[in-house]
Amino acid sequence: ASYDMGGHDTFMHKEICEQPDAVDRVLRGRIDDRFSTVHLGGLNLDPREARTIRRIKILGCGTSYHAGLIGAGLIESMARIPADAEPASEFRYRNPVVDPDTLYIAVSQSGETYDVLAAVQELKRKGARVLGVVNVVGSAIAREADGGVYVHAGPEVCVVSTKCFTNTVTAFALLALHLGRIRDLSVTDGKRIIEGLRKLPAQIEEILKTEDQIKEIAEQYAGAQSMMFIGRVRGYPVALEASLKLKEISYIHAEAYPASELKHGPLALIEPALPTVAIVPDDDLLEKNRAALEEIKARSGRILAVAHQPQAKADHTIVVPKNEDELDPILMGIPLQLLAYHTALAMGRDIDKPRNLAKSVTVE
Ligand code: AGP
Repeated sequence: ASYDMGGHDTFMHKEICEQPDAVDRVLRGRIDDRFSTVHLGGLNLDPREARTIRRIKILGCGTSYHAGLIGAGLIESMARIPADAEPASEFRYRNPVVDPDTLYIAVSQSGETYDVLAAVQELKRKGARVLGVVNVVGSAIAREADGGVYVHAGPEVCVVSTKCFTNTVTAFALLALHLGRIRDLSVTDGKRIIEGLRKLPAQIEEILKTEDQIKEIAEQYAGAQSMMFIGRVRGYPVALEASLKLKEISYIHAEAYPASELKHGPLALIEPALPTVAIVPDDDLLEKNRAALEEIKARSGRILAVAHQPQAKADHTIVVPKNEDELDPILMGIPLQLLAYHTALAMGRDIDKPRNLAKSVTVE
């Protein structure tokens, strides 16, 4: 691509640093303070229809699938509509039941990913209603969908997705708020979420200021053979995405598990040579997450926590600013983009063009 790096050494770094502006763009012009909701011009879904949705199924690949997992959680908690996410290619090949009361949402940065496009086409052939949460305006998936939300992350050049992930999750928060306010989300909760959304750009800015600290930590983990990422409920997709980012650009093997699953198997892997990155937000699951840190420490595992306050059991904590519980995953992913970045940099990797990968997979 012919975009310039604007003084950064890589597009990935540039795109990580652009996130305060990118998030500002996805919010701009959409917030309605009077009714504590958001307007999504291209959604093409009237309130009466929105009230009849019984279930939401989100489809995407890779990072977009992970954004969809967080999106499903946002929709369930704010709109109280059962929602889940699934890799688009898996969905397509398992002959899924296509249900008229389900709203389908296709997620894609490029809007050209073949597996997602094919899933959308299959769904439309079966009469389903499909929305898009897409970055590239006028792309194939955006055109094929019945309506949707543009995520306005701007052009993303680096093969691995960073700012588009953050913007996609933020776009899902907008959609969840919109659906919630049509259904049972109160004015007060709507206001609370809007205030949280407005804080995001400045809070991202704050996180970016901790880059030097993250770089130092990354340099200590750069030699690891393998890393474990854990989180619970909202934190689990953050762990999945952080582990994908690390493997894509550093080629370090990484696993992501729900923290609650540790004792059902992966705890066997824990030893000093296998560091764990733990997502530990200050929410109702804080004590549960702390218990997991204790279990890891008892096996002499090294721990890096991403948390709202320093964690006694962790060897390092990256402290991020607190937002509303629902929106915390947006912020907690950002230091882990920098962790992957500086780990890969310390290992001399070709960050913008990792081996074996293409920016958009337009073939099967
Ligand atoms: C992102 O870091 C990856 N390179 C990849 O998983 C990507 O998210 C996936 O291929 C989907 O692409 P899309 O969002 O353009 O559809």
